Amino acid sequence: MMEGVTDYNEDLLIDFTDVIFTRGGRNLVGPVTWQVELDERWVIIGPNGAGKTTLIRMAAAEEFPSSGQARIMGEQLGRTDMRDLRSMIGVSSSALGNRIPDKEKVADLVISAGYAILGRWREDYEEMDFEHATEILEQVGAMHLADRTWGTLSEGERKRVMVARALMTNPELLILDEPTAGMDLGGREDLVAYLGELAMDPDAPAIVMITHHVEEIPSGFTHAMLLDEGEIVAQGLIDSVLTNENLTRAFHQPIQVDRIGERYFARRVRTANSHRQS
Ligand SMILES: Nc1ncnc2c1ncn2[C@@H]1O[C@H](COP(=O)(O)OP(=O)(O)OP(=O)(O)O)[C@@H](O)[C@H]1O
Ligand SMILES: [Mg+2]
Repeated sequence: MMEGVTDYNEDLLIDFTDVIFTRGGRNLVGPVTWQVELDERWVIIGPNGAGKTTLIRMAAAEEFPSSGQARIMGEQLGRTDMRDLRSMIGVSSSALGNRIPDKEKVADLVISAGYAILGRWREDYEEMDFEHATEILEQVGAMHLADRTWGTLSEGERKRVMVARALMTNPELLILDEPTAGMDLGGREDLVAYLGELAMDPDAPAIVMITHHVEEIPSGFTHAMLLDEGEIVAQGLIDSVLTNENLTRAFHQPIQVDRIGERYFARRVRTANSHRQS
């Protein structure tokens, strides 16, 4: 590839080189070199405070790196209009949820996603927007909530609505920060199954999802990153990353991970490397 020329691999949605995010004299993230392509579905795992949310806030064009080069869809963060980028990225996070007014109606919240991202609100939505919103709310199992207000929703109900909202704009990149946190078992399994379907859909956006539980990784996810103290412990194809050794390193205790069918299960064991212990 030629140096300094703007044509780039259009399938390369996230392209981070030596990205560092510093606050208070401390590297909260980095250096991180990481690439995400259109057909990839990533899960990011790591202890509390590892820097996962900080990392994906840069991927969502919500923060700039302190150093290094961060390209999102070919655009370098800091040299482009962040709002343009954000309109192509769907985000679900509790931080975003906290900014939603209690009185907002769920249907409006989902329909307005595209307009809100661009910083303009519109009273008269298109008929197509209504249909699309209805379809997505149905897919995430939240159609029955359409007429409710945000302030009346439970934690798990909010998560579903946030995912619907993130998908409303038909994003190129879907970023989910702990989308299943606070969900009951049935709700979690519903969302995990839906994300699994999305993962297998060749027309679906690239997905980057943070979770604390390997049990919540939907089938069809292709890649994983383990993060600890801002640094990458392992990244790459999911099966090569989610090993006893890597999880033990990331969590500083002996972890055993098992794969049953398409799903992963992890727990602490007495000694590391006890692959066959049960
Ligand atoms: N603006 C800030 N100034 C100083 N420290 C910060 C700032 N924002 C985040 N941090 C710290 O950076 C670290 C990484 O935070 P981050 O939210 O990215 O972690 P995380 O991996 O998402 O954790 P969790 O699993 O708890 O959500 C934490 O130690 C946090 O306290
Ligand atoms: Mg976080």
